[in-house]
Amino acid sequence: MSDILIESVLQEQRQFPPPPAFSAQARIASLEQYQQLCQEFQADPQGFWAGLAQRELHWFRPWEQVMDWQPPQVRWFVGGQTNLAYNCLDRHLTTSRRTKPAIIWQGEPGDVRTITYEQLHHDVCQMANALKALGVQRGDRVGIYLPLIPEAAMAMLACARIGAAHTVVFGGFSAEALKERLRAAQVKVVVTADGGWRKGAVVPLKPQVDQALADGQVPSVQRVLVVQRVGGCAMTPERDGWWHELQPQMSPDCPAEALDSEELLFILYTSGTTGKPKGIVHTTAGYNLYTHITTQWVFDLQEDDVYWCTADVGWITGHSYVVYGPLSNGATTVMYEGAPHGGNPGCFWDVIQTHKVSIFYTAPTAIRALIKMGVEHPQARDLSSLRLLGTVGEPINPSAWMWYHRVIGGERCPIVDTWWQTETGGMMIAPLPGATPTKPGAATLPLPGIQAQVVDRQGEPVPVNQGGYLVVTHPWPGMMRTVYQDEERYRRTYWEPIPPRDGQHFYFAGDGARRDEDGYFWVMGRVDDVINVAGHRLGTMEIESALVSHPAVAEAAVVGRPDELKGETVVAFVTLERHYQPGDALKQALLAHVVQEIGAIARPSEMTFTDALPKTRSGKIMRRLLRALAAGESPTGDISTLEDRGVLESLRPQPQ
Ligand code: WTA
Repeated sequence: MSDILIESVLQEQRQFPPPPAFSAQARIASLEQYQQLCQEFQADPQGFWAGLAQRELHWFRPWEQVMDWQPPQVRWFVGGQTNLAYNCLDRHLTTSRRTKPAIIWQGEPGDVRTITYEQLHHDVCQMANALKALGVQRGDRVGIYLPLIPEAAMAMLACARIGAAHTVVFGGFSAEALKERLRAAQVKVVVTADGGWRKGAVVPLKPQVDQALADGQVPSVQRVLVVQRVGGCAMTPERDGWWHELQPQMSPDCPAEALDSEELLFILYTSGTTGKPKGIVHTTAGYNLYTHITTQWVFDLQEDDVYWCTADVGWITGHSYVVYGPLSNGATTVMYEGAPHGGNPGCFWDVIQTHKVSIFYTAPTAIRALIKMGVEHPQARDLSSLRLLGTVGEPINPSAWMWYHRVIGGERCPIVDTWWQTETGGMMIAPLPGATPTKPGAATLPLPGIQAQVVDRQGEPVPVNQGGYLVVTHPWPGMMRTVYQDEERYRRTYWEPIPPRDGQHFYFAGDGARRDEDGYFWVMGRVDDVINVAGHRLGTMEIESALVSHPAVAEAAVVGRPDELKGETVVAFVTLERHYQPGDALKQALLAHVVQEIGAIARPSEMTFTDALPKTRSGKIMRRLLRALAAGESPTGDISTLEDRGVLESLRPQPQ
């Protein structure tokens, strides 16, 4: 990490107070109420979390100690026993939620399943018994490699119910990436499907599992449970079994185990843009409480909401905000198997219209893709059921925020821009929609109980509007516990970059940020995505936002290229909106636009028009690959997470 701080050049002045009609109904209805919660935490941090844990979760045994902090190791609710699946299912069955839809699922071809809490509980118990019958015991690891179908949530909940840890591998990952993750977690049983639907086509999954397991490459795996989704696949006798054949034989009676608060809940491998994937470890009680309460706060969850988060369960967003957070709150969570593409550009808006979605949570990369598909699609649907919008995954460009606000939110829905990470378990910095005025591009303020700061390398807070490193200084219940079987990497990655001082430890998130005069956080992207032009550290995000604010630009990625004179120069890769043709005149116009928005310092020295950018399967731009291309090298290292390898071939920077 360099000593030079990141300079912030993009200034966004627009502000949107919470709509009064929204605040009037909201759980947290004013900034004063938010501040009061923050003060409660300040006055008694442990009492704050203990009070919430007491009120919001079911406990089989109370804890003896709220928090045991031996930096950087933390344990929460020590000595207590609970069960995440119990909190997501059983406790709702004695209320009117018993017959409420827990999951409304829509497959890409249009098939719909509505599953009540009662039914979900039934199926999860059967799945838990099936896992047991296949040899899974408390403490074992189960691999889940499924499309976005209800069985994915069932498998996760079944694991949580019996105290087995799951490791979900996104269905878009290759056999190689799957093998690596199954091996690393020493998985005993894999739950998969014959295949799933994605962008109008069947994507086979089981053959990937067969390939990953071939020749005993993952010796720990004993059995494979296969869900039928697309019509069948080859089965290996002795090892593989069909879920639909096993299910009727399984008892729907499977009491939830009383699990220790710190019992391993899941391992989720982050598709790191550099190096080997890290197995992020989350445990039972703290994660449950944190995802539960943040769902309630940030989505202002009400009993009759129909809530839709578009993430796949293969990512943390799917874990925390498709499955666990909503179900723990007794909400109706929508799952949609598909993704917008040329063949069905309006599919997201159809889902909202059909199921009367009231809360919609997606990623900036999806928003930009939807913008590109054209405003006529959302305009042709009834989106009036929406009352709240959210984003997650990367900084949202202010112009995309404004489109979301106007076109999708009809200027009446607050937007919650939520900053968090796989490592944090749940949302950390985000508006409370009834309380916090929003600004396009800002994640706004830390949630109650979260002590976030922007500091320099020595841990000194930086002045207002100056860029620095985003850190968290007090443990929170949802934080990761370690990197699976690699404590040393946990320390080195998260706790050592900014050394402790005066007994204060800094969780280093890896992101750059600045705070403005209202204390709002503007996340500027990963600090390794910073370009140093003639001694100015520029956040790639801000230059990209400047480009995207031009009407011709759909998406932009900016990287640095080593330069003898300036240290680095700015190289831009740009995809255009429909109806715009690449050409020199447009290039000059875009360069001038960046100069006008940010200044000559940020003017790209090279610009390449392209049809698509190289992205990870979770939609993050793989700048490492673009950096190599910009430097005239061939990309090296792990590209297993790249969504479409063809994209790389088509990209070669053209000098001005
Ligand atoms: C980025 C996703 C700006 C950030 C939940 C973080 C964001 C990384 C935002 C974590 C946001 C996520 N504004 N940046 N609202 N949300 N990020 O682990 O760089 O897939 O460190 O977790 O995404 O990505 P992850």
